[in-house]
Amino acid sequence: MEKEGKPQGHAGIGHTRWATHGEPSDINSHPHSGKRVSIVHNGIIENYKQLKQFLIDNERDEFLSDTDTEIVAQLLDFYYDGNPIRCIRKVLHELRGSFALGIVFADHPETVYAVRCESPLIVGQGKGEVFLASDVPAIIKYTKDYYLLEYGEIAVLKNGSVNFCTLHGQMIEKELHTADFDEDSAEKGGYPHFMIKEINEQPTAVKTTITPRIENGMPNLSECGITPEALRSFKHIYIVACGTAMHAGMVGKYVIEKLARVHVTVDIASEFRYREPMLSEDDLVIIISQSGETADSKAVIGLAKELGAKTLAIVNVKGSSIARESDMVIYTHAGPEIAVASTKAYMVQLSVMYLLAFEMAYAKGKISEEECKRMTADLVAMPEKIEQTIKNSADICKYVSTKLIASESLLYIGRGLDYALSMEGSLKLKEISYIHSESYAAGELKHGTISLIHEGMPVIAVATQNSLLEKTVSNIKEVKARGAMTIVICDDQADIDRDAADYLIRVPKLSEMLMPMVATVPMQLLAYYTSVNKGNDVDKPRNLAKSVTVE
Ligand code: M6R
Repeated sequence: MEKEGKPQGHAGIGHTRWATHGEPSDINSHPHSGKRVSIVHNGIIENYKQLKQFLIDNERDEFLSDTDTEIVAQLLDFYYDGNPIRCIRKVLHELRGSFALGIVFADHPETVYAVRCESPLIVGQGKGEVFLASDVPAIIKYTKDYYLLEYGEIAVLKNGSVNFCTLHGQMIEKELHTADFDEDSAEKGGYPHFMIKEINEQPTAVKTTITPRIENGMPNLSECGITPEALRSFKHIYIVACGTAMHAGMVGKYVIEKLARVHVTVDIASEFRYREPMLSEDDLVIIISQSGETADSKAVIGLAKELGAKTLAIVNVKGSSIARESDMVIYTHAGPEIAVASTKAYMVQLSVMYLLAFEMAYAKGKISEEECKRMTADLVAMPEKIEQTIKNSADICKYVSTKLIASESLLYIGRGLDYALSMEGSLKLKEISYIHSESYAAGELKHGTISLIHEGMPVIAVATQNSLLEKTVSNIKEVKARGAMTIVICDDQADIDRDAADYLIRVPKLSEMLMPMVATVPMQLLAYYTSVNKGNDVDKPRNLAKSVTVE
C-alpha cells in the first residue's frame, strides 16, 4: 500500500554500501529480493558463483543485478518453507565469506530478521522502536542503547522490541550497552565536513586518550592489562594493521626501537596473515584499528594466538571484534570518526604508540625515571601544540592546495620518522583528492624514482628531523634542480635555504621524536583543502567504505 508515494508500514530495510560485486548503480543497490524475501547485506559472499550455479540448475535463473547479495535473497527464497529461522539456518550453512544480513519475509511484513557472521551488526533499542545497523553512529540520533550481535546470532525485530536466538532457535539474553558519545559527536557541529571537524577534535582526543594512562607523571597502562613484567618479556614486536593504522604503527616502530631497543616489524595485515609469519610465545602482536572490525586485521589475532604470541589491540570502537578477541586492549578515546579519511584516530594511535614506547623503555631500564617523566610531560603538552598547528597552518595549506589541484601525480619524501609520516600524508591526499601520490624515503630517490620528476611536479618534503635535516635538504635541492615545485614541512626554527622551498609550512618545534604529532596536521589540511577545491565528496570518497569488513 502506498500513501503520498511512500510505502506504508512499520518495518523496513535499506542500505548504503560499498560494492563488492557489480558497479554502484540503482540495479545493484539494496535491498535485493527473491519472490518472498528481501535482504540487505554487509560483507561478501565468497562462494556466490557456485550458489548461483546451484540456483540456475534448479530453474532459478532470473537475476536482476550483478551482486552476490541477490544470490542470498534467491537462496533464502528457494529454501523458504514458512519458518524464517529454519530458512536462515539452512542458507547460512551454505554461505562462505564474512557478512551480516537484514531480512524481511513477505508473509511477516512487520518483522525484520538479522544475522551476523563476521561483519559487525548492532541492534539499537529506542523507546518503542528498534534499529538495525553496522555501527553505533548510524543510530545515535535515535538511541544510545544498543545490543551487539555475536557470530551466528539471530535478532528478531518486531513491534519496537527485539529478541535474540541462536541459529537453532534457542532464545538468548543479551547485554544492553550504552554508547559513550552522543548525537553531537556524530554530527558536523557547524563544520562543512566531518573531516575538518575531526581534525579540529584532535587536541581533545589526544588529551582524553593519554590522561587516564598517566600517573605521577609516568605512563601507566596497567588498567589495559599491560604490566612492566610483560613489557620486559617480549623479544620481538609485530605491529599489524591496514592503511592509516599501519602508518601509525610505522611511527611506533621508530619510537619503540629507538627507546626500548626491541625489534619491531610492521606489517600490512592482508600480507601478514598469508605469509606464514615466524611468531613465537615470546612475541607480542599489536593490532591497530580504528573500527576494530577490519577483516584482515581481525584475522591476525587468531593466527597470533595459534602460534602462542600475545595480542594487544589498540582500538577506538568499544566492544568491537578486535578489542574483544585480543588478550589486551588499549582503547583510544577519539570519539566516533565518521569521515572515511582517518585523522583523529591516527593522532590518538600515535599518542598510544608513544605511551607504550615510554613505558616499555622504562620497564626495560633503557631510560631513567627522569627521562621518562620528561618525555611524558612533552606528550601531555601535545594537545596545545596540535591546536596551535591547526590554527597556524590552515591558511597556508588552503593556499598551497590550490597549487596541487591541477597535478596528476606528486611525491612525498622524508627520512626516518618523516618518511613514516609521509606515507600517511600521501595516503590521505590520494584517498580524498584522487591525485596519484607516492611516499618515498628521500635517500632512495636517486635509485630510480627521481627520473619521474618533471617541471612543476609537486614534491612535498617532510623535514622535521633535525638530525637528518641537512641530508633531507640536499634531497629537496636535488628534486628542485630537476624542476619540482617543492613544499617543505619543517619546524619553526629550521634553517631551510629559501631557494630550496617554493612553499614553507612551519610547525612548532618539539623534541624530534614527537614531531609527527604536529607535522601530520598540515598534511591532513593539504589533503582536505585539495579535496574541497576539487569539489570532491570529502567525507565519502569514491569506492571506499569507513570500515573494511571484507578481505
Ligand atoms: O578501522 P581501521 O583502522 O582498521 O581501518 C584501517 C584502514 O582501512 C583505514 O585506516 C583507511 O586506510 C583510512 N580510510 C585511511 O584514511
